[in-house]
Amino acid sequence: MTDYRMLLSQVGEIIAADPWYVPALSNLSALLMDTLPDLNWAGFYLLRGGRLVVGPFQGKPACVHIPEGKGVCGTALAEDRILNVPDVHEFPGHIACDSTSNSEIVIPLHRDGKPAGVLDIDSPLFRRFTEEDAAGLAKIAGMIENAIEWDR
Ligand code: SME
Repeated sequence: MTDYRMLLSQVGEIIAADPWYVPALSNLSALLMDTLPDLNWAGFYLLRGGRLVVGPFQGKPACVHIPEGKGVCGTALAEDRILNVPDVHEFPGHIACDSTSNSEIVIPLHRDGKPAGVLDIDSPLFRRFTEEDAAGLAKIAGMIENAIEWDR
């Protein structure tokens, strides 16, 4: 089980060190990959020019562009809700960037109240993500939204 209280305090330290999205999201993806057991990909897709573009992440090189409404990421963005997918092979339109992924959780990120990107986490295990993970990751997304500096 993940100690989300400890993780949230580390998230705060990373953002405080430099809130610009490049260092902050880079170190946050590394923190998540290092802290949550059984992951093969953890990172961010950012909305740019009407589609999601891959941002800072840890894992294998990934699909660069995801249209809004496509895949788990584009669907979470379009529907503006967390998608916790226990078996990605059952998700219509799932985009397989890494063939070892079997479950995935995607949390929308907002900027000025509007969807602006997603936090995407993949696991080689089926049913990897619990309600507790969804709640903890939603809190992390909230901290990112409140504190990240997008432009500099
Ligand atoms: N599986 C995602 C694509 C991104 S990768 O998992 C890194 C999707 O279906 O949107």
